Amino acid sequence: MKQLILTCVIFCCGIFGVLKAENLTSPDGNLSLDFRLLEDGTPVYSLQYKGRSVIKYSEMGFLIRPDYAFDKGFRKMFVRYAETDTVWHPVLGQYRDIRDHHKEMFVMLEQPSTGWKLNIRFRLFNDGLGFRYEFPVQESLRNFSLKEEMTEFRLTGDHKAFWLPGDYDTQEYPTTTSRLSEVVSLVDSVRLEPLAAKSFTPNLAVQTPLMMKSDDGLYINIHEAALVDYPAMQLNLDDKNFCLSSHLVPDKNGIKGFIQTGSVTPWRTVIVSDDARDILASNLILNLNEPCKLEDTSWIHPVKYVGVWWEYFTGQGSTWAYTKNQDIVIGKTDYTKEIPNGTHAANTAHVKEYIDFAAKHGFDAVLVEGWNEGWEANFAYVKEHIYSFTKPYPDFDVEELHRYAAEKGVKIIMHHETTSSVADYERQMEDAFRFMADNGYDAVKTGYVGPIIPRSEYHDGQWMVNHYLRVAKMAAKYKAMVNSHEAVRPTGLCRTYPNWIAQESARGTEFESFEGNRPDHTTILPFTRLMGGPMDYTPGIFEGDLSVYGPNKAQLSTTLVKQLALYVTMYSPLQMAADLYTNYEKYPDAFRFIKDVAVDWDNTYILEAEPGDYITIARKTKGKDEWFVGGITDENSREAEIDLSFLPEGKSYEAVIYADGKKADWRTNPKDYVISTRKVTSKTVLKQRLAPSGGVAVSIRPLSR
Ligand code: NOJ
Ligand code: CA
Repeated sequence: MKQLILTCVIFCCGIFGVLKAENLTSPDGNLSLDFRLLEDGTPVYSLQYKGRSVIKYSEMGFLIRPDYAFDKGFRKMFVRYAETDTVWHPVLGQYRDIRDHHKEMFVMLEQPSTGWKLNIRFRLFNDGLGFRYEFPVQESLRNFSLKEEMTEFRLTGDHKAFWLPGDYDTQEYPTTTSRLSEVVSLVDSVRLEPLAAKSFTPNLAVQTPLMMKSDDGLYINIHEAALVDYPAMQLNLDDKNFCLSSHLVPDKNGIKGFIQTGSVTPWRTVIVSDDARDILASNLILNLNEPCKLEDTSWIHPVKYVGVWWEYFTGQGSTWAYTKNQDIVIGKTDYTKEIPNGTHAANTAHVKEYIDFAAKHGFDAVLVEGWNEGWEANFAYVKEHIYSFTKPYPDFDVEELHRYAAEKGVKIIMHHETTSSVADYERQMEDAFRFMADNGYDAVKTGYVGPIIPRSEYHDGQWMVNHYLRVAKMAAKYKAMVNSHEAVRPTGLCRTYPNWIAQESARGTEFESFEGNRPDHTTILPFTRLMGGPMDYTPGIFEGDLSVYGPNKAQLSTTLVKQLALYVTMYSPLQMAADLYTNYEKYPDAFRFIKDVAVDWDNTYILEAEPGDYITIARKTKGKDEWFVGGITDENSREAEIDLSFLPEGKSYEAVIYADGKKADWRTNPKDYVISTRKVTSKTVLKQRLAPSGGVAVSIRPLSR
């Protein structure tokens, strides 16, 4: 990776115990940060954008167990300033070149009463702030555990917020949009189930990424970057003072993190702009992550895939399990002696049909869920050992499928559903990845449904945060890419471990087959969940009337064309065409877009955006003169304005426009679409009507002569 250090100015001012504010401005001067110690030695910071307050003076520090205040009584030892301007290139991404231009302020503090030291590193970019705590190695403080991190974000008013309820185990919620002052009264009613450990959660309000908009039009996003060996940060809310404060996810004994000095916390991030498009264009979280740690990345590649998947959700009887015998004991039951249930979907012949379809239409891979022993008891996730990750069911011929897929130029994607029996998964992990390498698999979808075993852990606590990274590292050893479902939400670690290609960690398409998603769902996710990294949202559902599969099935929350547009608006280098392939065969002209659309990009242009309302994005395919545009809207119809000035000047291109038909409406007529072709140039501005919960998708290529 080529790094270009343009400037690096370092000067120090050894200030001892002076209570004056230290100031830092962003490279463009729009953001300004103040740091100071209060009279009692409490560290505080504040943030302004174009002269307007974003974060009022907010406290920093920790409570160390059992009860040591490590958030006051400090004196300032040393402050150092620096500026860095570099360009780096992600292995897979929305941009080929990413500029990391920031100014830095590094503050060394000491607590004279204990002799303990704490450093804080601030980085100010043009698009926001990152800061983290650093625990230097020191004689009198070596290992300690946290009662809480005391970081505050004191906001200036009752902002509109797009939030998920605080929950240590899941992000699979619809987003609630409300004023901050309404959160506390709503939070218990939107939470899935009462939190097991109520005693740890009296003020727990929301999760991050938290997207907000102030009444005077500032867009503010709070999240974290580089979550490594530390619990996820959720947020308490004091709604009288609009003060958010860190709430680390504990283990079940209430311990919020084990620290050994010589380590750093994740970065706390505040992305700010008066233009919502800048939030989506921000690379601040990636910039705060470490450069790629894998020496060889040649085996990491974008993946467009189909899968033995939606048939499990449409209720037509396909099962992950091979038999009906729920008393299976893994390792003891001989499956060849069991009676097959006749509905097991991951059988060799059926998987070959998917491979044929993938090969015919140019997909890279086929996901196969339900291939391995143990699914009979997957409801009973209290059991310690419920799946084998190396033993296929008798009707799934690993070797033959490896041969068949290779012959057709298609990969099979491995599936490791752990049902959160994580200790057991770790026992099997190396064997599981070796098994993958031996059988031609280069990608795995992992899953963590249900409560974590060992049972003193939560999905978002420090132990599990470490587990997900252990999996990514083990996968890298065997040259495998990872797509984790039900894991802690991402924080930009895909820069450091680019084989961690995507995650779910939010409410994906699967919920369309349960109680449904809301029409505004995907107009919010890029401002929240996707801030930390790509999502395996699994778009591409063409049959929007799910009642064709039987009673109790909801209506899909979008038009068919909006499903196409999601391939562009929901960035991921791993994208599924999730519908039953028989549905694609019915609409070959619309399916063309899914076949054509790229998943790895040279450049991205955020054309229109307002959280909760609409998003229009254009992207240039990596290494090709080819662009794709996706526009989506919430439940309201609108006209998207697609300004093609990102195209090179003086050339003509052919645009294929996939638009909602005149009668399209997600509730009544989702499959009404019109495809048209026209000549466009960099001067063209397309005006496209989007139906209620509709969209527009456009592919642009040079005119064939
Ligand atoms: C939940 C995942 O999100 C889904 O994609 C998967 O099919 C099921 N778990 C079963 O593993
Ligand atoms: Ca899920």
